[in-house]
Amino acid sequence: MSAPANGTNMVNVQINGEWRQFAKGTRLIEACMQSGDFIPHYCYHPALTSPGNCRMCLIEIGSPKMDANRQPVLAADGRPEIAWSPRPQISCALEVSEGIAVKTDSPLVEDCRKGVMEFLLINHPLDCPICDKAGECRLQEFAVEFGNGGSNFVEEKVKKPKRQDIGKHIVLDDERCILCSRCVRFMQEVAHDDVLGFVDRGSHTKLTVHEGQRLDSNYSLNTVDICPVGALTSKDFRFKMRVWFLRETKSICTSCGTGCNTVIGARENEIIRQTPRQNDAVNSYWMCDHGRLNYGYLYREDRITVPMLREGGTLQKSTWPRAVAQIAEKLSSVPRGETALLASARLTNEELWLAGRLARHLGITLHDVVPRAQEADSILVCSDGNPNTQGAKMLSITHEPGAKLRDIGAAILDGKVKALICLGEDPKHLGLSAADLANLEFLVCVDILPNSGTKAATAVLPGAGFAEKRGSMVNIKDRIQRLSRATQPPGQARDDFEILSDLLRALGAETPQTLEGVFKEMAAAVPALAGLSLAKLGEAGLPLSGAAASTPEAVPA
Ligand code: SF4
Ligand code: SF4
Ligand code: FES
Repeated sequence: MSAPANGTNMVNVQINGEWRQFAKGTRLIEACMQSGDFIPHYCYHPALTSPGNCRMCLIEIGSPKMDANRQPVLAADGRPEIAWSPRPQISCALEVSEGIAVKTDSPLVEDCRKGVMEFLLINHPLDCPICDKAGECRLQEFAVEFGNGGSNFVEEKVKKPKRQDIGKHIVLDDERCILCSRCVRFMQEVAHDDVLGFVDRGSHTKLTVHEGQRLDSNYSLNTVDICPVGALTSKDFRFKMRVWFLRETKSICTSCGTGCNTVIGARENEIIRQTPRQNDAVNSYWMCDHGRLNYGYLYREDRITVPMLREGGTLQKSTWPRAVAQIAEKLSSVPRGETALLASARLTNEELWLAGRLARHLGITLHDVVPRAQEADSILVCSDGNPNTQGAKMLSITHEPGAKLRDIGAAILDGKVKALICLGEDPKHLGLSAADLANLEFLVCVDILPNSGTKAATAVLPGAGFAEKRGSMVNIKDRIQRLSRATQPPGQARDDFEILSDLLRALGAETPQTLEGVFKEMAAAVPALAGLSLAKLGEAGLPLSGAAASTPEAVPA
């Protein structure tokens, strides 16, 4: 027999002649893939149950040959001889067990795959040239790699419904569906909105929404991601771009405090789609539709793209050096304690760190961020609509988001505060009307879109959106993750980190030249970040212990 398994949770499995150990409960397909033997599959998905209905994952299976005394028959090398089953079996629905042996690349397995591919393609339309999935379609890929390149089928293909609007964001093409049921299971098991199912028999079986229902869940677009073919398509992405033209950037969603890991697909400096990226500590394989589609505002026509200074009563276009110099001069002339800072928990840690330095440099004691409480669901969407509240707390920009907003508003109204710096937030959150802002002698706004502040401001600086800058954020579970730049900000807009750095230097404060340098400074001062660097966060981020509770020890001014 093979070497005894270590501990009770491990079993010995022979894969293509090699004995390996796997944890009990591992599905055979996973064991094979963990050992580097890829098994083509359609219906299997690691985060869903295995119905075993596509038959693409067929392998040969054997078990130890037993003698008359029910003892394993050993070969010359002391290993058990294997009795191979004459019938191939699916590897996605079987779990590893002691002594089991599999072949994933035998002639029988290859034959099975060819047969399954031919069968799956019988009624499949020749849609590839106009199908959104082309370039990342499992049917295309496996047909090339495992198919036989031909068909015995000469009859007319079965026609099924095409272009069906089945949900707010989804169009279904039934002819392309290979009936793997991934979408059905996702809606049952993950989204808990059981609206999809199959109707009719045989080759007329088709996917549909149950009568009177729609695929309108806030998680509906995950079905498009996991559909191995182009049957479920996203209205947002449909016919926009061939996938091979997309430049992909790994980042995170900033539409709530969960911080789902994403891949941003961009082309010619424009986001074309966002898809979830696997991170078992955050979002598994999924993201919500709201977060996924929340990028259109970056391309609004009224996006602020040039620095502006108020001259002769109106905002006039300016240049960066002039705007920064003038803002620094004005801020320096305001007596200490008479400037307030409205920051945002949508800013990165690095930006918040520089905002904190700005506050200390100018003697600002009134500073806060705008809270965004929202309704959580039991899947991914959390109760915090800000992506970096924990970072803002960790860096002492706020101890309780929103606690000081009224105080700041009142101080402006009674003239105690004469200058206000708004970083990515609308001063209406201070309880002030547009007319109230006239009480300020100086208002500077760094933002990407117009708001009540930018309209009344003395100076407006165009910042960068979430996909146009780099940095780190701490999610609601105290996991620090990296935000990446997928596109450049439009016009003269700049990364907020650069804007704050320039402003600090113009005010005479020292500050690092690079984002990495800022993180290094934070890591030296904030206990929760000790020993970390932006590079060390990796693509999946890292958990922080007590990030929100730790406060900076040595804060360089
Ligand atoms: S629509 Fe796609 S995911 Fe759903 S059953 Fe058909 S092939 Fe599978
Ligand atoms: S759950 Fe939150 S972080 Fe995740 S995709 Fe939705 S909005 Fe974005
Ligand atoms: S992946 Fe195993 S039957 Fe579909």
